[in-house]
Amino acid sequence: MNKAKLVVLTGAGISAESGIATFRGGGGLWENHSIEEVASIEGWYKNRELVLAFYNSRRQAALQAQPNAGHLALKELEAHFEVRIITQNVDTLHEMAGSTAVLHLHGRLDQKRSEKNPKLVAPWEGDLKLGDLASDGSQWRPNIVWFGEMVPAMEQAVEWVREADFFAVIGTSLQVYPAAGLVHEVPLHCECYLVDPQPVSLIGMQHFIQITEAATTGVPKLIKKLLQ
Ligand code: APR
Repeated sequence: MNKAKLVVLTGAGISAESGIATFRGGGGLWENHSIEEVASIEGWYKNRELVLAFYNSRRQAALQAQPNAGHLALKELEAHFEVRIITQNVDTLHEMAGSTAVLHLHGRLDQKRSEKNPKLVAPWEGDLKLGDLASDGSQWRPNIVWFGEMVPAMEQAVEWVREADFFAVIGTSLQVYPAAGLVHEVPLHCECYLVDPQPVSLIGMQHFIQITEAATTGVPKLIKKLLQ
């Protein structure tokens, strides 16, 4: 028998208890630079060195991190559901936990790409410096989708959400579009959940069942409810 489809949208909150800082929790600043300076295409054109330093340090932090009980619980759910994870996170903790269907909306910290050609991608090993060139002669940059850039995985994400029987949002402030718009793509029959220790505005999402807890305790609770 076919398993029911569970689609999960995750954000920085699911990795918080693995030691990776959320974006908006700490005032949205990195060493006194705004998110726009270090994580937008304009920021890249303005100061490539600064952007590379920011992502080198984020990559180092991600290398130290291990999946937590939230990531691991989602992997366990594959025994019961066809689980598809759409993540805004650039860490690879879902993959490390063993999840098999993970779509990265905002890119991944373990890959670099050519500045000119988004399809020229390679594993990212060691700090990136200005002058590190891809085989097409252009600068390597992190394979990250920055503010001001298209989100190429959106089409696939919308397709997954429209097929969901169950949908869960975990650890995202839903402030960044187009990712946040996915919550409005769920089909009418779909049972919807939201896990976040802070109250998240449910405008247009009144049918979501809220579990107001951190991911490491909230996701196991979510699983209990799903398996009931
Ligand atoms: N468990 C679950 N959720 C948590 C936890 C936790 N332990 N700790 C914090 N949260 C919640 C916060 O309450 C908040 O609602 O996680 C959410 C994190 O929100 P943001 O920091 O805004 O992160 P996110 O929504 O993933 O940001 C989206 O913005 O900067 C860009 O591209 C970047 O992918 C990122 C996007």
